[in-house]
Amino acid sequence: MKNFLSLCIFIFAVAGGFVYLGNSIPQIKQGATGPVTITLTVEGLTEAGKSIFERENSCLTCHSLGEDPKARCPNMIGVGERASQRKPGMSAAEYFMESVYSPDAFVVEGYPKGQMKPVNRPPASLNDDEIVAVTAYLYSLGGNFDQDAIQKLATAQEKYKKFVPTIEVAEAEFLMPEAYPEDGFDVFNEMKCWQCHKAPGFEDKEPEKSAPDLHGVAAMQDAEYFYDSIVFPNKVIVKGEGYVGEDGRSIMPEFHDSLTLRQLYSLIAFLQTLK
Ligand code: HEC
Ligand code: HEC
Repeated sequence: MKNFLSLCIFIFAVAGGFVYLGNSIPQIKQGATGPVTITLTVEGLTEAGKSIFERENSCLTCHSLGEDPKARCPNMIGVGERASQRKPGMSAAEYFMESVYSPDAFVVEGYPKGQMKPVNRPPASLNDDEIVAVTAYLYSLGGNFDQDAIQKLATAQEKYKKFVPTIEVAEAEFLMPEAYPEDGFDVFNEMKCWQCHKAPGFEDKEPEKSAPDLHGVAAMQDAEYFYDSIVFPNKVIVKGEGYVGEDGRSIMPEFHDSLTLRQLYSLIAFLQTLK
């Protein structure tokens, strides 16, 4: 999973505090795959966080910066201000750390539980330093973000650092039988998933109903999520206009009795190629 990281942040920390490199202008260098080096000024940290938030296949694939009626996840403008009011007794720093390491602990009203994955797990796989940077950036969107706040984020992060492992085990538990994306492509066609979804290779089809565009969906989700999406569409209902019927349930049919196991796993294999 380490090689998933296209970004490396070197944060200079000492026990109990940080060393600030004066007010030097942050030095950010970024190659296509090369590491980003930041000096830890408030500006340096939020800049690095911004680049993580906005880079390809990252937070911005779901979230928006500004009002967007099509956005399926919360608009981040002003999140720095509302963070301290989200949960009684929880500071903004604590809320940010909880929302990225344990997104289901508090679910923003109007959005589904289970859609956002802990950001230290695949597919995002951010390391602890990157997480400080990205939460610092969000904190700065409407909040009063200063050097004191960096310290608060680092302190709030401590308890989550201990939870990191078990990832590889959880991944391995979801064993997939032999399945091929090419077959999944055919199943997608036979089952007429394209009646609602746009997906690579189905450009000639015009969906009749509204549903999420599946281009790039694998950058945000894993096999387990795809399994649930197909078999139990109501487990996580993605937010979007026309996605639910009058009964409040997803308009997507449940495919639990219409697919063979092989078809199901082939479909998942196909969805996993949609990066
Ligand atoms: C697959 C879609 C998806 C991706 C990718 C995603 N999020 Fe989220 N996020 C959500 C949803 C849905 C919610 C609202 C439900 C909830 O609270 O869990 C949310 C909520 C949040 C909140 C709380 C916002 C508030 O208003 O209180 C924060 C903070 C957050 N996400 C940060 C991030 C960061 C940082 C990343 C990238 C590393 C990220 N998210 C990537 C779907 C996503
Ligand atoms: C009648 C329309 C319809 C059909 C047919 C349909 N879907 Fe969906 N699908 C939806 C809607 C609407 C959503 C969003 C609401 C939800 O989460 O259930 C969705 C959600 C999904 C998601 C989650 C997307 C995301 O961005 O998180 C996946 C994956 C998916 N569908 C795959 C499939 C596959 C594979 C098929 C064919 C076997 C299929 N769908 C058939 C309407 C449909």
